[in-house]
Amino acid sequence: MTNKFPENFLWGAATSAGQVEGGWDKGGKGPSVLDVLGGSIDGSAFRIQTHEVKPDVYYPGQVASDFYHNFKEDIRLFAELGLKAYRMSIAWSRIFPNGDETEPNEEGLKFYDEVFHELKKYNIEPIVTILHYDAPLNLANKFGGWTSRDMINSYLNYCEVLFTRYKGKVKHWITFNEINCLLVPFGILTAGAVNIPIKSEENTKKIRIQALHHQFIASAKAVAMGHEIDEDNKIGCMIAYMCSYPLTCRPEDIRLAQEHDQIKNMLCGDVQVRGYYPRYAERYFKEKNIELQMLPEDEEILRKGKVDFYSMSYYMTNCIGIEEDQEMMSGNLVIGAKNPYLKATEWGWQIDPLGLRWVLNNVYDRYQIPIMIVENGMGTTDIVTEDDKVFDDYRIDYLSRHIDQMAKSIEDGVELIGYTPWSALDLVSLSGGTMRKRYGFIYVDTDDQGNGTLKRIKKESFYWYQNVIKTNGQEINGTKLNQFQ
Ligand code: BG6
Repeated sequence: MTNKFPENFLWGAATSAGQVEGGWDKGGKGPSVLDVLGGSIDGSAFRIQTHEVKPDVYYPGQVASDFYHNFKEDIRLFAELGLKAYRMSIAWSRIFPNGDETEPNEEGLKFYDEVFHELKKYNIEPIVTILHYDAPLNLANKFGGWTSRDMINSYLNYCEVLFTRYKGKVKHWITFNEINCLLVPFGILTAGAVNIPIKSEENTKKIRIQALHHQFIASAKAVAMGHEIDEDNKIGCMIAYMCSYPLTCRPEDIRLAQEHDQIKNMLCGDVQVRGYYPRYAERYFKEKNIELQMLPEDEEILRKGKVDFYSMSYYMTNCIGIEEDQEMMSGNLVIGAKNPYLKATEWGWQIDPLGLRWVLNNVYDRYQIPIMIVENGMGTTDIVTEDDKVFDDYRIDYLSRHIDQMAKSIEDGVELIGYTPWSALDLVSLSGGTMRKRYGFIYVDTDDQGNGTLKRIKKESFYWYQNVIKTNGQEINGTKLNQFQ
């Protein structure tokens, strides 16, 4: 059997600074908008966000998995796992504590120097997300975050420092994590718009789309800048692929699903890969009474800032239809109708490996540029046995079935260059603000209130993934890949 994964395939794993690092006020770091997202009691998606750090609120991201103090040991474990790539993010407020200083914080820069040094020691390639939901809190309070165009300059100063300082050390960059999540209500929080209630979707839609435009401009300028500073830089977009199938074969459902795919998934890729707004967006904005504020130079900025690769997160799918009386499921910040053919995780995220093949083909047919899956995984409550073992065979099952579909997509002709499942080690869940929803190959001993030793335990999936990487995807689920065909 020929191996479907290319020799240089980037087998990796992912985390983000705000969810894994902790050390929120160490080394001169300022607070970020994630640092003031408190954990909800029931782990549901809508959580407290404040304008300041309140002493009586428990903020899980402030200690998180304490990667900040433990990165050497963690990276040693990543090497043992066999990672060829590590997708991580840089905390903006570690580099610019308030987001808008004229000089960067040297201690913060040094921290990432050391992280990159450790990764290099083990030949692990960093894939760096410049902004993964954790903009400096000061900019949120000062400007209302990305709702203001003023964010762009601060972001670009930050980018310039990163591209210059880490030139030659980082080759793959992602400008914004899940940029299209600004199109769903939760995005208003991560965009740093602290004053806007996230539940009034209609009120916030215009604001969110304008904020998204500011991020498009910031991203395009960053891409152009990154290429100028180092022509070897490969800079990508990152889309949360929220795949929704038509609930029935009724033409109205098909059309609704098409529009969902255009607006929620394709709009961002179209702007960032092709360099201009698609025509369907004009119609949609008009219909929603959205008058996008664009400067005369914006069109050219977008044209000059096209990305080199497309990256995405893929966790689940759901359905969409015109019938209102539907059983609904939610997951990865979206709500949709239940698919009777799919099983769901304990958090209700419907598991759909075959959907990944559909998505990969859909995206590649449209753009014909390299694709990376930079998030995919299963959030579960993991149990540690008395002798410190975690038997997460459900995670192995989830991941192996997705990898199988990746291999098939490569056979379909998709240029898939990397896979960094979520997550390298357990970290704070974004939607719930809790630790109990775990994704990692490595267990971290801490709970929702921050109790625990922070000890690391290699899960069963750790050993399984180690073998997947070693065999370049030939052996998944402990069996040969071709037995799944
Ligand atoms: C993605 C985000 O949406 O999903 C991650 O990029 C997040 O930051 C991941 O952690 C899983 O979501 P959750 O809510 O289960 O942590």
